[in-house]
Amino acid sequence: MKIQFPDNFTWGVATAAAQIEGGAFEDNRGASIWDVFSRLPGKIKNGGIPEVACDSYHRVERDVEMMKELGVNSYRFSFSWSRILPDGTGQVNEKGIAYYKKLIRLLKENGIRPNATIYHWDLPYALQMKGGFGNREIIGWYLEYVNVLLDNFGEDIDLWVTFNEPIATYVGYAQGFFAPGLTDEKYARQALHHLLLCHGEAVKLFRKRNIPDAKIGIVVDVWKHYPAREGNPEDEALALTGNEIKGYGMFLHPLFLGGYSDVLMKYFEENGLTPVMQEGDFETICQPVDFYGLNFYNGLYDNADKLREAEKVKKEGGNYQDRPEDHTEAIRDVLHMLVEKYRIQVPIYISENGFPFDDADGKEANLNDRKRIEVIRKVLTWLHKAMEDGIDVRGYYLWSLMDNFEWSAGYAARYGLYYTDYETLERIPKKSAGWYAEVTRTNSVETWED
Ligand code: NOJ
Repeated sequence: MKIQFPDNFTWGVATAAAQIEGGAFEDNRGASIWDVFSRLPGKIKNGGIPEVACDSYHRVERDVEMMKELGVNSYRFSFSWSRILPDGTGQVNEKGIAYYKKLIRLLKENGIRPNATIYHWDLPYALQMKGGFGNREIIGWYLEYVNVLLDNFGEDIDLWVTFNEPIATYVGYAQGFFAPGLTDEKYARQALHHLLLCHGEAVKLFRKRNIPDAKIGIVVDVWKHYPAREGNPEDEALALTGNEIKGYGMFLHPLFLGGYSDVLMKYFEENGLTPVMQEGDFETICQPVDFYGLNFYNGLYDNADKLREAEKVKKEGGNYQDRPEDHTEAIRDVLHMLVEKYRIQVPIYISENGFPFDDADGKEANLNDRKRIEVIRKVLTWLHKAMEDGIDVRGYYLWSLMDNFEWSAGYAARYGLYYTDYETLERIPKKSAGWYAEVTRTNSVETWED
């Protein structure tokens, strides 16, 4: 069966600066925490570094040409803070400004609306050296950067995103898998509090500047956890932790309901992790936004027995169930939760969704990516059902335009509609690129049924 999307639906693709641009040390760009972290031995799969990545710094014409081929009407990208302000604050790098001016000009010439993320994980290293998000001064540093962006691009961008997936800062400060590679939960919790304040202050600043037609929002990923065995106390506890303490709840509650949830506060208190807060912080954090961006990849089912088994196998050096089960139908329930539990009443965009292949599967399998098409069709089928339920979803961005630097998975995980040949930097359309072009052309999708 074919399902039809509304006439003005946004179909897009998404990328991020650190993952595609390369040109890491060209034209005065400063180092980001990912430039440094990726060079530490053993941190990134196969030792990948984002120095060249997809070389989009020099290939922006080709990137926009690919968007034309796909027929998308919006492009979600991010600004590189250390390309704009190499030291994080102070001197503005005009060459960095020129690069984004060119990208935006090309997008507009081709009728593609820019959706730009201010911060997508790549903090200038100079600021990390001053404590990064752990230092409350980050609010001032971030606002300085936001002001530079609004001065230069304010009216050019339709949708401004303050932060992409703030959880990455938790992973980088508490769990060590992401830059800057620290494992200090107290510092991480403080950092997240400051990050939320940066968001709130940026929204206030944006309102003051009163930029015609531009909108501002935030992107929070939701990996909703469910107990694999309902009523099993261990599974229930795992899901609660995954959602409220270490997942989306730590952001959605303060952003949309105000303050941290009782579950999170209790956890902070019991573990001596309560961040230092000031009067008025929670009011700042829950500034009304114009839209919400949902990054959705999968639903997760927690089973305490399986987890124990996995830990045992891992300890013994084995590999336990590499790829999680497909629970992409969860997107419908997640969208309901956003509206019903978190009372999100602004338009929602699916700001990311996609499916990875492994580089080790080989080029042929990567180009012939039927499985990606199947998974995305399924997501779009359930998304459409949620829209029929009355949820106001305005658009969908596929992650990603092309294979790129997938953080700690380096170049081993390939998410692109285009295959990136990292030797020649050529981009080759995969089967899914042709399929997506049909979706955007017809504004419809052949549904996926079990
Ligand atoms: C989330 C992130 O925003 C993006 O940077 C990442 O590459 C994709 N999801 C895939 O993991």
